[in-house]
Amino acid sequence: MPPVALITGGAGFIGSFLCERFVAEGYEVICVDNFITGREENLTSLADEPRFHLERRDVCDGIHVHGDVDIVLHLASPASPKDYLKYPVETMKVGSYGTLNALDIARDKGAVFLLASTSEVYGDPTMTPQPESYNGNVNPVGPRAVYDEAKRFGEAISSAYHRYFNVSVRIARIFNTYGPRMRPDDGRVIPAFITACLKNRPLPVFGDGRQTRSFCYVEDMVEALWRLATCNENFCVVNLGNPEEMPVLELAQVVQDVCGVYPGVEFKPLPKDDPKRRCPDITQATRLLKWRPRVSIKEGLKPTVSFFQRKIEQQS
Ligand SMILES: NC(=O)c1ccc[n+]([C@@H]2O[C@H](COP(=O)([O-])OP(=O)(O)OC[C@H]3O[C@@H](n4cnc5c(N)ncnc54)[C@H](O)[C@@H]3O)[C@@H](O)[C@H]2O)c1
Repeated sequence: MPPVALITGGAGFIGSFLCERFVAEGYEVICVDNFITGREENLTSLADEPRFHLERRDVCDGIHVHGDVDIVLHLASPASPKDYLKYPVETMKVGSYGTLNALDIARDKGAVFLLASTSEVYGDPTMTPQPESYNGNVNPVGPRAVYDEAKRFGEAISSAYHRYFNVSVRIARIFNTYGPRMRPDDGRVIPAFITACLKNRPLPVFGDGRQTRSFCYVEDMVEALWRLATCNENFCVVNLGNPEEMPVLELAQVVQDVCGVYPGVEFKPLPKDDPKRRCPDITQATRLLKWRPRVSIKEGLKPTVSFFQRKIEQQS
């Protein structure tokens, strides 16, 4: 019998690549997704795969699996600011009830539990880069709190399940990840820049564009999540992301270079609580997982731009 991985949010951007990876590694994969932000087309490559099972279901309503489960990877949650501000209550529910239900499966089945947390648990950080020991600077009543605080709750309850029920827990604090299968309209900076550029429209830059982000290509992220899920640690919290920090304005230039189109930028007001700097300290990931990102921003943008180009052509 193959080992079994349960992946919540497996029809989403990162989750769909993770489903493919676990199938390729010989796992039976059960994907549970309610398609609030995910898409069935992300799973096209697995449609005829006998070791892949798709369950259309809200994880807040409970998760039921007959038989063994070896690893639970809990990715279900709206993830882009545009999505979680559109679905504030759903985001808090999936971060709380959804995480509890996923943890209960891990506890019942004696499975490893991996939580897809986020760099947003650091809020608007007062130190850079952020190590895992930094406790963050989060506004609990700001608009972004629906996501930040849901993920912080998720981390707290996962730690409690480890402490009190001995569930093996790995918390991945994921920093900005990009690649094919992102939705052109998900509001995140890379899809927004690429789609504007390909339509020869100015790239929308919030604030003065000097705020920094670090961008990790999805292939690197999936490798890190695979290693984290299958490592020997019984409890760990690990930053996963690319430590190469880049001002948003510089990203706008690189996107234009990769697209070969130069429509320039258009400045827009900075959203509330937008972090000024975001950069992971990945010392822990390098030590525990022997991992660091390999794909440069220029290399990762090429397949991403091709993906968006195809999307735009399909729409026209
Ligand atoms: N992409 C990033 O840069 C990034 C950064 C930090 C953290 N993360 C985390 O990684 C995970 C995946 O992010 P993504 O970028 O692939 O987002 P995504 O929106 O593409 O995927 C999330 C998936 O979860 C599903 N989902 C949401 N609520 C659900 C529910 N109640 N029941 C069942 N399914 C539900 C959605 O339909 C979608 O398929 C999320 O937990 C996110 O918080 C992502």
